[in-house]
Amino acid sequence: MTDTPVALVTGSSSGIGEAVVRRLSAAGMRVVVNSARSADAGRKLAESLPDALYVQADISAESDARRLVAAAVEHFGQLDVLVNNAGTTRRIPHSDLDAVTPEIWREILDVNLIGTWQTTVAAVPHLAKSKNAAVVNISSVAGSRPAGSSIPYAVSKAAIEHLTRLLAGVLGPGIRVNAVAPGLIETPWTKDFTDIAQYVRETTPLRRVGLPEDVAEAVLAMAGAGYTTGTVQLVDGGAHLI
Ligand SMILES: NC(=O)c1ccc[n+]([C@@H]2O[C@H](COP(=O)([O-])OP(=O)(O)OC[C@H]3O[C@@H](n4cnc5c(N)ncnc54)[C@H](OP(=O)(O)O)[C@@H]3O)[C@@H](O)[C@H]2O)c1
Repeated sequence: MTDTPVALVTGSSSGIGEAVVRRLSAAGMRVVVNSARSADAGRKLAESLPDALYVQADISAESDARRLVAAAVEHFGQLDVLVNNAGTTRRIPHSDLDAVTPEIWREILDVNLIGTWQTTVAAVPHLAKSKNAAVVNISSVAGSRPAGSSIPYAVSKAAIEHLTRLLAGVLGPGIRVNAVAPGLIETPWTKDFTDIAQYVRETTPLRRVGLPEDVAEAVLAMAGAGYTTGTVQLVDGGAHLI
């Protein structure tokens, strides 16, 4: 085990995850990049960073989640920070109840909640050996407000926030568990959210849509906040105030 921390960021071939990987790497950490499908983008990102590994794995499959963590530890010899960022959604108006099938519920919960769970469970024995272990879960403003791209997505993020508190309670003192809850952030995921972007620019206190780098800064802070656990940090330009 060395003093240079190792961070695994799920879903980091684009958007927020990519910015988190870049920020943690710039802060001196060794990083593991992951995605389920976009392997070329993930590999290119890892190759562009000083001490990085790419692992293709679908976190919704338990065997993949275990293989992802094992590959990280096998390559770097340790794991200090886990950022559970991989997520999925469907854009469905909340009033359209019939459009939300049980399959859609399972698809979203499988990645956002169960994927986060099984990656964390696989990581815990390794994190427990670190002197400054941290889990940072990526939630959303939709986790605490009646908002978000669909009801299953918002419910999955509410579950992540409670999971953050529950795990913080049982994983201390060795492992801290916090969440970062972004508002609208400019990523491939939100490129068509033009109506919401306009609303955010006109009404929120900071009058702009967030950048992936805004979230990455908060993740880095949470990874190092040695006396903070079980919290949810909003990164939403003040959207929760309106
Ligand atoms: N953008 C926003 O406004 C916003 C706001 C609040 C919260 N968030 C949260 O931020 C996180 C990242 O979102 P983003 O906007 O950055 O989206 P994005 O650019 O689409 O990135 C999503 C990443 O997750 C990966 N991924 C998806 N399913 C996966 C799986 N089963 N296993 C492993 N990797 C998987 C994707 O790669 P592949 O598809 O190639 O596997 C990609 O790397 C999500 O948890 C999202 O809920 C985003």
